[in-house]
Amino acid sequence: MTKQTIPAAPPCTLFLFGANGDLVKRLLMPALYNLSRDGLLDRNLRIVGVDHNPATADEFAGRLHAFMQERDKGGEGAAKCLDEKLWARLAKRLDYQTGDFLDPATYAALARRIEKTSHGNAIFYLATSPRFFPEVAQRLGEAGLLDESAGGFRRVVVEKPFGTDLASAEALNACLLKVMSERQIYRIDHYLGKETVQNILVSRFSNGLFESFWNNHYIDHVQITAAETVGVETRGAFYDTTGALRDMVPNHLFQLLAMVAMEPPAAFAADAVRGEKAKVIGAIRPWSAKMALKNSVRGQYMAGKQGRKPLPGYRQESNVAADSQTETYVALKVMIDNWRWAGVPFYLRTGKRMSVRDTEIAICFKPAPYAQFRESELERPKPNYLKIQIQPNEGMWFDLQAKRPGPELVMENIELGFAYKDFFKMTPATGYETLIYDCLTGDQTLFQRADNIENGWRAVQPFLDAWAQGGEVHEYPAGQDGPEEGNELLTRDKREWHKLG
Ligand code: BG6
Repeated sequence: MTKQTIPAAPPCTLFLFGANGDLVKRLLMPALYNLSRDGLLDRNLRIVGVDHNPATADEFAGRLHAFMQERDKGGEGAAKCLDEKLWARLAKRLDYQTGDFLDPATYAALARRIEKTSHGNAIFYLATSPRFFPEVAQRLGEAGLLDESAGGFRRVVVEKPFGTDLASAEALNACLLKVMSERQIYRIDHYLGKETVQNILVSRFSNGLFESFWNNHYIDHVQITAAETVGVETRGAFYDTTGALRDMVPNHLFQLLAMVAMEPPAAFAADAVRGEKAKVIGAIRPWSAKMALKNSVRGQYMAGKQGRKPLPGYRQESNVAADSQTETYVALKVMIDNWRWAGVPFYLRTGKRMSVRDTEIAICFKPAPYAQFRESELERPKPNYLKIQIQPNEGMWFDLQAKRPGPELVMENIELGFAYKDFFKMTPATGYETLIYDCLTGDQTLFQRADNIENGWRAVQPFLDAWAQGGEVHEYPAGQDGPEEGNELLTRDKREWHKLG
């Protein structure tokens, strides 16, 4: 799996549907810039924006350039030193196709562009609103653009959200699979582009040590948290019909869960890895309606503060209903019914406007027996945690107990740690670099297969169904870590959330 010096990806025409949207300028273009900087794009790679607003190639490139310059001043993944020469080279690859996504003439125009190339390779990246996914796929099929019989590859990248529940995800899969094969579909979950997420597999399976205690004999429970300080920003309309569960759990949080809980794959190859992931997500116990309510907590942020800065409540955000019941926080308890994890709860939580930004997995080990310290004044030893921090301070830390030096027997918590920044030179990246490169080279390992997606929805469907019948959305002040009920989910099991940060 160690990619050392990797070659440039093959030539291709990359069509970006939804070219004027946020994703293209905020993430895809910066990622393509980074790939170009690293020499990973073929000379004959062309990037064609496709959207309904009329524009020339120069106008399209100009808008992206202005954004790249703006972004250079700060923000996540910022290059901080936009190299104008490098940008000019990338800009030469850019083109634009004005066209309605529903009009067959658009697809005929794309076909003409592909015919002009000697390689015939094409990727259709659906960075559009999800309502266009089935429409665009169907028209690509009707126009013969997904036919690989002439030799060139044809691939379709589908962005998140992939469905809004189990039935819609199954319907979308069925629709895609009518016009293309699974081998041609690249369902994106940007968490899989994160170095630290990929590292979970490498650390687990390339260090023999871990396997010896990675099971229900030694692990008491697992916590997976994705805490954000941001609110819904400009996405109120989308978020209000989505909520924290759909937005984060069946995709990002389950990817983390799968990385921690899956069995070792027979090979680091796409189908071996995805097969193991599908199995473990498929083993999540489907709760009854009563248990789904008992094992879930929903919250919504009210007005609050971050430090001294006052923050509005969720219902005051733009494009959010004044009486919205949408959850901006969710905490769940799930069980995995297989031999490795029987009896080990997995607690998941995610929320907007929490106190800190922190995506982490905390693996809590069973405590040492008390017997040795019975005659001493010592407190009962604390459980050991292995914390895998995905962001922002990427790394892994083991909490251990050690004796404080001195005549007295006093225990103290210490940390054995590995921070990425201390060992590796980290170049700013969006996370999409690896995903785009892998799609260009035809490696599906980091993309979701149909069964991965459907098993994820199958596991959250009981919560959606139970909430549709009742249950409460609890309030929490913006800037705090969710409602008190989220803590009770653990305290009732005599456990507590690992401290964030
Ligand atoms: C997106 C969600 O998929 O992931 C957003 O739609 C969320 O609501 C984002 O903020 C979190 O991603 P990251 O990489 O910042 O953890």
